[in-house]
Amino acid sequence: MEIPPRFQALVTEETRPGLFTRRIVARKVAELPAGDVLIRVAYSSLNYKDALSASGRPGVTKRYPHTPGIDAAGEVVSCSDGTFAVGDKVLVTGFDLGMNTPGGFGQYIRVPSRWVLPLPAGLSLQESMILGTAGLTAGLSLARLQQAGVIPASGEILVTGASGGVGSLAVQILARAGYAVTAATGKAGEHAWLQGLGASNVIARVDLLEGAERPLLKERWGGVVDCVGGATLAAALKATRYGGVVTCCGLVGSSELNVNVFPFILRGVSLLGIDSVEAPMAQRRAVWEKLAGPWKPARLQAGAEECDLAGLETRIAVILAGGARGRTVVRLGEE
Ligand SMILES: NC(=O)c1ccc[n+]([C@@H]2O[C@H](COP(=O)([O-])OP(=O)(O)OC[C@H]3O[C@@H](n4cnc5c(N)ncnc54)[C@H](OP(=O)(O)O)[C@@H]3O)[C@@H](O)[C@H]2O)c1
Repeated sequence: MEIPPRFQALVTEETRPGLFTRRIVARKVAELPAGDVLIRVAYSSLNYKDALSASGRPGVTKRYPHTPGIDAAGEVVSCSDGTFAVGDKVLVTGFDLGMNTPGGFGQYIRVPSRWVLPLPAGLSLQESMILGTAGLTAGLSLARLQQAGVIPASGEILVTGASGGVGSLAVQILARAGYAVTAATGKAGEHAWLQGLGASNVIARVDLLEGAERPLLKERWGGVVDCVGGATLAAALKATRYGGVVTCCGLVGSSELNVNVFPFILRGVSLLGIDSVEAPMAQRRAVWEKLAGPWKPARLQAGAEECDLAGLETRIAVILAGGARGRTVVRLGEE
């Protein structure tokens, strides 16, 4: 497979202390870090964490200049340990990709083979990146709910931050798996769109917080997929039904959690943490197989928009401001 002398990548630089700027630059494959697998990237996606990395926010990327992009899907160009053949379609999400390893906002990546998954049958490269880290996280959340015994008859499942990437995919896969989903959103204009993705009910974000200063709220949710943290997660716990299960994956609202013990000791509610970054390969394979099959959203394209590297600039600002609607898939090459 021919490698061009230069490829395009979005690079964030610290031009002055504390001032981060982004530009699209020409890079050489030889500049990529050592690794087993060289991949020509066809698609990436924009996650909240990518926006943090791309704008120099603390806690994600330590060294700049840097190419963000925690997700990438494409074709194997070379593989030094024999795990993959040239031309294999593969995807990478999480681990150190896009954190301190140049990520999917470049047309080539080089990574350890233990980070790489074969593209599951039933998904195109583009579809795998509409899902990406957000889909894996939503899928891990549903898998944990199911393992803990939450079934459709357990009652309504609340999804918070529902119009965002993880939230919108959680709505879609829960609906596909037969659950009645209540989507909580801060965006008054997106109720119909969320219903179109499969939510049976949509509520305003602020309604969740009503009366939330009380020790417990009326039992409502059979399960919760929380993407927000903070007061939203605390209120969701207080309104979860006896024996219900709440998953926690995000912090867009707050990383703090101020909650009493009553949901746990009076209602037997469980709070489960979700991590997609270091999730073991066996877990990833199991979830990706479901995402490519029985959980595959019926209207996957309706929950996503496509852009190129140049189109990321405005979208990074939108996602940082909490304004994302569904997923942004980034086109870097051919399917
Ligand atoms: N644990 C993991 O492995 C993992 C993996 C992926 C993502 N995450 C985390 O999950 C969260 C969501 O990620 P994402 O990529 O889906 O982000 P996203 O696309 O930006 O979605 C976040 C959504 O949360 C809501 N929101 C934003 N600001 C809020 C605020 N101040 N208070 C309450 N709600 C707010 C908005 O939805 P509405 O307007 O509809 O309310 C927004 O669209 C992030 O914190 C991310 O870091 C964790």
